[in-house]
Amino acid sequence: MGFSFQKSVSFFLVSFLCFTQFSPISCYKKVSLDLYYESLCPGCSNYIVNYLPKIFKNGLIDFVDLKLVPWGNAKIQPNNTFNCQHGPAECFLDTVEACALDAWPHLNDHFPFIYCVESLVYHKNYTKWATCFEKLNLKAKLVTDCVGSERGKELELHHASETTALQPPHKFVPWVVVDDQPLYHDYRNFVSYICKAYKGTAPIPGCSSSNSLSFTSKLSTISPDITSLIEQSLKLAASA
Ligand SMILES: *[C@@H]1O[C@H](CO)[C@@H](O)[C@H](O)[C@H]1NC(C)=O
Ligand SMILES: *[C@@H]1O[C@H](CO)[C@@H](O)[C@H](O)[C@H]1NC(C)=O
Repeated sequence: MGFSFQKSVSFFLVSFLCFTQFSPISCYKKVSLDLYYESLCPGCSNYIVNYLPKIFKNGLIDFVDLKLVPWGNAKIQPNNTFNCQHGPAECFLDTVEACALDAWPHLNDHFPFIYCVESLVYHKNYTKWATCFEKLNLKAKLVTDCVGSERGKELELHHASETTALQPPHKFVPWVVVDDQPLYHDYRNFVSYICKAYKGTAPIPGCSSSNSLSFTSKLSTISPDITSLIEQSLKLAASA
C-alpha cells in the first residue's frame, strides 16, 4: 500500500515535472553544445559574435548546455610553457577567458564577458579587453588575479586536456560539437543540429519552423537579461 502510494506520488511528480509549463524539459537531458576555440582566431570571434548568440533566441538556451573551451590549436611545450597559434597575446586572452569561465560559472554571468572580449577581437581592438569588466560591471580582480597565477595555468592545462581528448580529434577551430558529434564545416548551422539532437517531448520553440530561427542581427528576441548585456558589449565594441 505504502509502496504503491509512493509509486503513484512519484509518477505524479514525474508527470508534473515533465509536462508543467514551468518545467517542460526537466525529464530530458539538455543538448550539449561544446565550442573549442582560441581567442584570436578570426573564425572563432566571428562565430562567437555573429552566430553563437542564436542560442539566446526563442528560449533555445533552456534546452542547451553550452561549454566553452578556450585552447584550440595551442601546444604545451617541453618546458611546460604554452605556444599559441596567434602568439603570446592569444595565450594571454585564452587564459583571461578561462579565468572568467572559472570566476563566473553561470552562462548568464560569463557569456557577456566572453562576448565582449571577442567583439573587441572581431573589431581588431582586443588590447582593450579589460574595458569589458567596467562595461559589464564585473569584478576585474577575480580574473586579473587568476591570469598570471598557477590557477590560470591550471585552468588552461585543463582546457588543453579536454581539447586533446576529443574523439574524433579537432581538425580546425572553431570546432563545434553537438551531443558529441562534431559539425565540421557546417558549424554555423549548429541550431538545426541542436533541434535534431533534442529528445524531449516538449517542442523547442523555433525548432518546428525552419524560418523562425534564422538569425538577423537584431537582438530584440534574445532573452532580455542577456540582450541588454550584449547590447552593452556591442556599444563597447563600437566605441572602442
Ligand atoms: C620554453 O620553450 C620555448 C620553445 O622551446 C622557448 O621559446 C621559451 O623561451 C622557453 N621558455 C622558458 C621560460 O624557458
Ligand atoms: C580601436 O580603438 C581605437 C582607439 O579607441 C579607435 O580609434 C579605432 O577606430 C578602433 N578600431 C576599430 C577597428 O574599431
